[in-house]
Amino acid sequence: MTEPMIQVEGLRKSFGKRAAVDGVSFGVPAGSVMGLLGPNGAGKTTVINCLTTLLRPDAGRVSVAGFDVERDPAGVRASIALTGQFAAVDQLLTGRQNLVLFGRLLRMSRRAAGERATELLARFDLAESGDRGVREYSGGMRRRLDLAAALMVPRPVLVLDEPTTGLDPRSRHAMWRVVRELRSAGTTVLLTTQYLEEADRLADGIVVVARGKVIATGTPEELKGKVGVSVCEVRIDDERARRDALVVLLDRWPDVTEGDGSIVVPGGDARTLAEIVRRLTEAGVETDNVAIRRPSLDDAFFALTGHGALGHHDGSPAASNGRAGAGAGR
Ligand SMILES: Nc1ncnc2c1ncn2[C@@H]1O[C@H](COP(=O)(O)OP(=O)(O)OP(=O)(O)O)[C@@H](O)[C@H]1O
Ligand SMILES: [Mg+2]
Repeated sequence: MTEPMIQVEGLRKSFGKRAAVDGVSFGVPAGSVMGLLGPNGAGKTTVINCLTTLLRPDAGRVSVAGFDVERDPAGVRASIALTGQFAAVDQLLTGRQNLVLFGRLLRMSRRAAGERATELLARFDLAESGDRGVREYSGGMRRRLDLAAALMVPRPVLVLDEPTTGLDPRSRHAMWRVVRELRSAGTTVLLTTQYLEEADRLADGIVVVARGKVIATGTPEELKGKVGVSVCEVRIDDERARRDALVVLLDRWPDVTEGDGSIVVPGGDARTLAEIVRRLTEAGVETDNVAIRRPSLDDAFFALTGHGALGHHDGSPAASNGRAGAGAGR
């Protein structure tokens, strides 16, 4: 078996007395996308900072592309393209100047840097705004420029800390497209995200962290399976009919819950679904739709951590609608 491209074993990092990362282990196979998921303060950025040699681990072993972060930090840095959680580009320069500057810092010739900048500006939909000052850019444009800067020199590993936080759906999809393209080209990607739907769509593997510890690992499908909370959802828009249905269903399943225009019955299997339809038909209640709903990654997250993705790690109440897609206010 080949060594994973990124290997993290028993990683620990404290700030003062507080353990930000408390024994985290995971591996990222070459050419795959790994999603690091966790609520605010879970320790995601700290893991990434240790991995990219921005922080020194207190304990544990971390290697990237076969280079150990302690013994060969230069080798690690030469293997990684990184975009941090907060944009690193210079406000006073234009988009193009920023890219050329990054290229020059990475020892590219002026000419090579200029050519690569033109290529990346086009790829990230920034060709028209390349000669405008970055201070005039929108948040989404800045994020794309940030990623373009990280890609000035091709690297086997790309590390993205919340690449799409605060982006509108169009920019988010553009970012997903780029990550998929890079993966097809063989790049290994580690990304953190607050959008659970994003990890579900993009990642081959997911590591869920909370309070500095890994609480679950697997493919998106495996995580959903582990949580195993498939349900049957009965949609009835008419409020009166919905009340009638609730009475009928409560009689058989005492723990049904009423959602927004729908009734949720625990147990998302065909038999339950058939029985729901039979009982409602017998009672003469009309439904708009009855379907099995598999858990979203956000459901999984909720079940694993006791709060949604946007909830706080300190036990304060999670946002009542901590659902994927909601803007992560920070
Ligand atoms: N430089 C630092 N000094 C002191 N404490 C820190 C430092 N960096 C992080 N922490 C603490 O470590 C814990 C983990 O922080 P980290 O930034 O890794 O979380 P995160 O998962 O990236 O959160 P977010 O989703 O908000 O970006 C938090 O409690 C944070 O307050
Ligand atoms: Mg972070």
